Amino acid sequence: MKYTTIQEAITKGKGPVSIHGWVYRERGSNKLKFIVLRDSTNIIQCVLKKEDFSDKEWESIGKVQIEASMELEGEIKEDKRAPTGFEVQVKKFNIIGESNNFPINKDLNEELLGDRRHLWLRSQKMTAIMKIRSTVLGAIHEYFRSKKFYEFNSPLIIPGGAEDGPTMFEIKYFDKKMNLAQTWQLYAEAALYSLEKIYCIAPSFRAEKSSTSRHLTEYWHTEMEVAWTSLNELMDYADEMVKFVISKVLKENKEELKILGRDIKKLEPSTKKKFPRMTYDEALKILKEKKKMNIPWGKDLRTIEEEKLIEDYDTPVFVTHYPKEAMAFYKPKDPNNPKTAVCFDMLAPEGNGELIGGSMRDTDIEELKKSLKTKGEDLEDYKFYFDIHSYGAVPHGGYGLGTERLIKWICGLDNIKDAIAFPRTPTRSSP
Ligand code: 4AD
Ligand code: MG
Repeated sequence: MKYTTIQEAITKGKGPVSIHGWVYRERGSNKLKFIVLRDSTNIIQCVLKKEDFSDKEWESIGKVQIEASMELEGEIKEDKRAPTGFEVQVKKFNIIGESNNFPINKDLNEELLGDRRHLWLRSQKMTAIMKIRSTVLGAIHEYFRSKKFYEFNSPLIIPGGAEDGPTMFEIKYFDKKMNLAQTWQLYAEAALYSLEKIYCIAPSFRAEKSSTSRHLTEYWHTEMEVAWTSLNELMDYADEMVKFVISKVLKENKEELKILGRDIKKLEPSTKKKFPRMTYDEALKILKEKKKMNIPWGKDLRTIEEEKLIEDYDTPVFVTHYPKEAMAFYKPKDPNNPKTAVCFDMLAPEGNGELIGGSMRDTDIEELKKSLKTKGEDLEDYKFYFDIHSYGAVPHGGYGLGTERLIKWICGLDNIKDAIAFPRTPTRSSP
C-alpha cells in the first residue's frame, strides 16, 4: 500500500486516499466516530460509520486514544466544517501503535511540559517552531554558500577560553581539565589563512548562572570569519544574512507562523529596510536625551538599556565601537579613538536584545598579550593564537549569531527555551 502525506491527500481533494499518522483528537457516539489524524504535514478529520465495520472492528475503534498511530483508507472530499476543510470517509483502518492516557493536556504548567518535553514536541506549537528552525538553519547555509563561504568545523573540547572566563564549562578530560567551547572563533582565525571566507553552525556552551528568557547554556552558534575585511563589510553581511533568513521563513512557513499567531507585519520591515548603524557614544546620547537613562561611559549596555534603545525601531539596529575595556581581548582598539574597539552588536526589535556580536580582530601580539593579562588569562593557553598572527597577518573579522535568539524573534516567542527542542538552562538539563 502506498501512503500519501495528509497534505498530499488534501491537495488531491477528492477520491480514494491512504494515509497514516497519529490521533490528534477523537470523539464519537455509538454510530459515528470522528478522528482528527495528524502527520508531519497537516491534520485531517476522518469519519468512521458503524455500519461500515464489523462489531470487533467497531469495538477497537472505540478504544482508540489520542496519539495512537493508525493507517486509514477511504474517500476524501471537501467539507467546510472540518478543521482543514476536508474530510476522509474511512473504509478501512489499522491501529499500528496503541496509546493509553497520553500524559499531555491543557492543564499542564510550564514545568511539567518541560519534564514531558519528549512528548510535548508533538504539539502543533512545537512542530511549527521546529519547522521554522529547520528553514532558518537551511537558509543560513544557503546564504553563506551563495556568498562562496566554506563551512569550517572547530573543536568543541578546548584548553582555553575566548569570551568571558566565568562562563566556561570545565570538563574532565581523562586526567586533565578542559573546557567546552563558547565560540569557534580562535580556531576559525587559524583556518582563515587558508580558506579566507568561512562559516559554521555549531553548539556553543555558556555556563551562565542566571535564567533569563534569552540565555541557554547550550545554544547553536552561527559564526562567520572573513579575511581582508572591514567592520562595515561585516555589518553588511550580518544585515543581508538576517534579511535573507527572515524572507525565507516568510515565504516557506506561512502556515507555521499562523499557527504561532505571529504578526508578520512586525517582521516585514526587516526584509526591506537597511538596519540603522550608530556608535556606542550615539547610543548613550539617545538613552540620555530620549529615554532619561544616564549611563556612565565605559559600561557595556545591559538588557534593559538595549531594550529602551531600540524600542522605537522596527528593524534590528547596529551599535558599534563599544568601550575597549569592556570587550573581549581580541577586539582591536580603534586607531581614531583608542578607548573604543572596532566592534558591533546587532540588537533585535520587540525586546529581543543582542542577536549578533562581531568585530575586527586584533593582530598586534603585544596588545593581545596585554589584554589577556588584564583579564587574568594564562598566556600559555593562547600560544597557538599568537602564532596564527605571526605569519602574514591580514585585517580580518567575523561575527556570531545566537541562532535560537533569531528563531525566538522570528517566531515571536516569550522564551528562548522554545526555540530549541531540548533546552539546556541552569534549571533544566533533562530530558
Ligand atoms: O557576543 P558573543 O559572546 O560573541 C562571540 O562569541 C564571538 N566570538 C562571536 C564571533 O565573533 N565569532 O556571542 C555571539 C552571540 C550573541 O550575540 C548572542 O546572540 C549569542 O551568541 N549568545 C547566546 N545565545 C543563547 N544563549 C546564550 N547563553 C548566549 N550567549 C551568547
Ligand atoms: Mg556579545
